[in-house]
Parts: sequence; structure tokens; C-alpha cells
Amino acid sequence: MAILVTGGAGFIGSHTCVELQESGYEVVVLDNLSNSSEKSLERVEAITGKKVTFYKGDILDRDILKKIFEEEDIECCIHFAGLKAVGESVQKPWEYYCNNISGTLTLVDEMRKHGVKNIIFSSSATVYGDPAQIPITEECPKGQCTNPYGWTKSMLEQILTDMQKADSEWNVILLRYFNPIGAHPSGTMGENPSGTPNNLMPYITQVAVGKLKELNVFGNDYDTPDGTGVRDYIHVMDLASGHVAALKKIKEKAGLCIYNLGTGVGYSVLDIVKNFEEANHVKIPYVIKPRRAGDIATCYADAGKAKRELGWEAKYGIRKMCEDSWRWQKNNPNGYED
Ligand code: NAD
Ligand code: WQD
Repeated sequence: MAILVTGGAGFIGSHTCVELQESGYEVVVLDNLSNSSEKSLERVEAITGKKVTFYKGDILDRDILKKIFEEEDIECCIHFAGLKAVGESVQKPWEYYCNNISGTLTLVDEMRKHGVKNIIFSSSATVYGDPAQIPITEECPKGQCTNPYGWTKSMLEQILTDMQKADSEWNVILLRYFNPIGAHPSGTMGENPSGTPNNLMPYITQVAVGKLKELNVFGNDYDTPDGTGVRDYIHVMDLASGHVAALKKIKEKAGLCIYNLGTGVGYSVLDIVKNFEEANHVKIPYVIKPRRAGDIATCYADAGKAKRELGWEAKYGIRKMCEDSWRWQKNNPNGYED
């Protein structure tokens, strides 16, 4: 039996492939490489010494999905494939709704036709909008998203929930990730953004490596201890092990489950800069800029439900996240293009 990992060549998907193979699972990846490189999968194989079965193709393509379900013995799908750039989604809403929503509808239709009714879905803390409570529990109501990307996650959660309600053979686990950073400790795999990074940690590592001049800190007048935005950063290897824990749960006939994957600890932008500098002995020059549209002041998880029900909790702290992010960037200044 194998696990189908859609989007498995991407940042979180590739790290999860390592964790899956090291936990004894056979891994089949479907990725169209629209935001990734096949080299990430070579690195997975180099780390684990095991083969990844790779299909280059699109989740919107029924023919390749049929081929996979006919050729491989898939028991569950971990569904990472999707477009994820918040700003781009405002410019290209149709592309985001088509890729993320039509893509997922096509995938789950082929899954059910082939009798595979187990799915773990990559959702996001963005579905909470400006959260009604901090720390955020899974009972916190979903909120108004500020961009089409966020709405695709919110809508897909609803679609998968309704499907599970209508057909109890489905097992659906919705994982709401907080802010994934870090990289595999080997320094051979990590985040590989195209163009100028939108997210904080890849921006910092590109300043550190000399590709960008300075960090723009978006706002220092929030209602937070130092005025800069507070987030729940989680090491990508912890996130990866969260998926292995979710797979165990799905085998117990989970029905519908929702879990936050975060550490439960919030760090400000300036906390991250300070920790990065201290962990890596590199200076990060920064300037204070106006707030970024759509940002909220504070967002961190109550991670208790995943601990109680999955026996999973994040192991790695902020120093390790900073060290591993830097090791990857320093060894691979151009990501997988070197
Ligand atoms: P990523 O872009 O590195 O990985 C996504 C992968 O999906 C890429 O390899 C891309 O080529 C592939 N893909 C996209 N559309 C596809 C399609 N139609 N068919 C086949 N493959 C396709 O992103 P990531 O950071 O690894 O995120 C993985 C998932 O987690 C995404 O669904 C994302 O929305 C979600 N998520 C990410 C974050 C984050 O901050 N990184 C936070 C919360 C949720
Ligand atoms: C973190 C903090 C910024 C860049 C996004 C998506 C969310 C989820 C995770 C997918 C904020 C500040 C950032 C910079 C800065 N993705 N910042 N200068 O916005 O919390 O979440 O990624 O689901 O949906 O919205 O993450 O890393 O962009 O920002 O000051 O150059 O860093 O204002 O306070 P965010 P981020």
C-alpha cells in the first residue's frame, strides 16, 4: 500500500516524503512542478535511500489520476498540491479557484471512483481570518479571509466536510498549518521560492546570503509587545511528522477531524530577526515600513488537540528553525537551481 502525495515536490510535501519514507511508507508523488523542482525528490531519495515514484502531471488531469489509481496501490492521499501566493491570488483569482478548487474536486472524484476515501488536506490558519480568540483553538469560528487564496482553503474545508457528512466511508483530516519555516537538518532540502520571497523567513535568509539588501518590517504599531506582527512559526520537519501522526489516525477510521499544526508559541518579526542573528552570527539589517495590507497583529495556535488526539507535538524551537533555514540557504544560495 502506498500514499499518494500531491504537490510532493514542493516545500512541505518534499519534507513530508522524507518523514513518510523513514516511517516505512511507500510514497507516490504527483506534481506538475509549477512551483517546484524535481531535484527536491532526488534529495529525498538521497536522504532516505528509498525510491520515490514520481508522476509529473496535474491534479486537474483525470487521465493521469486514473493511471495512478490503476497502477499504484494507493490507500490514502496527502493533498498538498495548490497555488499559495497570497498577493498573486488577488491578481489572479480565477487561476487560484480553478487550480485549487477544480483541482481538488477532480482529485477527490477520481479517488472515490477508485475506492480511495482517505484524504489529509493542507489547510491553513488563514481560514480563521482575524481570529476571534488567541490562542486559536479548532473551535474558533472560521473568519473572513482577506484574499482568494485563503477562500480556496476555507471553501475546500467546507466541500470535504460536506462530502464526509454525506458518505461516512470517507475519512477526512483537515490540517491547519500555522507558519512553516526551517528546512531538513542536512541542509540539502528547503524552501525554494521563485522571485522575491513574500514570506518572512525566506526573505531573511536571502538578506543573510546577500541577495537582498535589507528586511522590510511591515509595521511596528500593532498591539503586540514590540509592535511587530506575532506568528506561530513551526519547523517543517515537525509539520512533516504531524502528517505521519494524521495517517495513523486516518487508519482508525477518523471520520472528519480538524487539527491545528503549530507550536502554540508566538514570536514577533523582531524576535525572529534577533533569534536568526544570534543562532547564525549573521547581521540582518532592517527598516520599518508601513503595515502590509491584509495582515493581522497576532496569530498563534492552541496546539493541544493534536497532542491529545494524535499524540503529536512540535519538538523544535525557534533557534533550530533559524539554524536549519540558514544552513539550507547558505549551502544552496539559488535553491535547487545550483
Ligand atoms: P509549494 O508551492 O512549495 O508546494 C505546492 C506544490 O504543489 C508545488 O510543488 C507545485 O508545483 C504543486 N502544484 C500546484 N498546483 C498543482 C497542480 N494543479 N497539479 C499538481 N501539482 C501542483 O507550497 P508549500 O509551502 O509546500 O505548501 C503545500 C500546501 O500547504 C499548499 O496547499 C499550501 O497552500 C499549504 N499551506 C502552506 C503554508 C505555507 O506557509 N507554506 C501554510 C499553510 C498551508
Ligand atoms: C509573517 C510576519 C508580516 C515578510 C502567510 C499566509 C498564510 C500562510 C502562511 C499559507 C507578518 C511580517 C513578512 C516581510 C515582514 N500561508 N513580514 N516582512 O502573512 O503570517 O502568513 O504565510 O497558507 O496564509 O498569509 O506569513 O511570513 O508572510 O509574514 O515584516 O518581508 O512577518 O507582516 O507579521 P503570514 P509571512
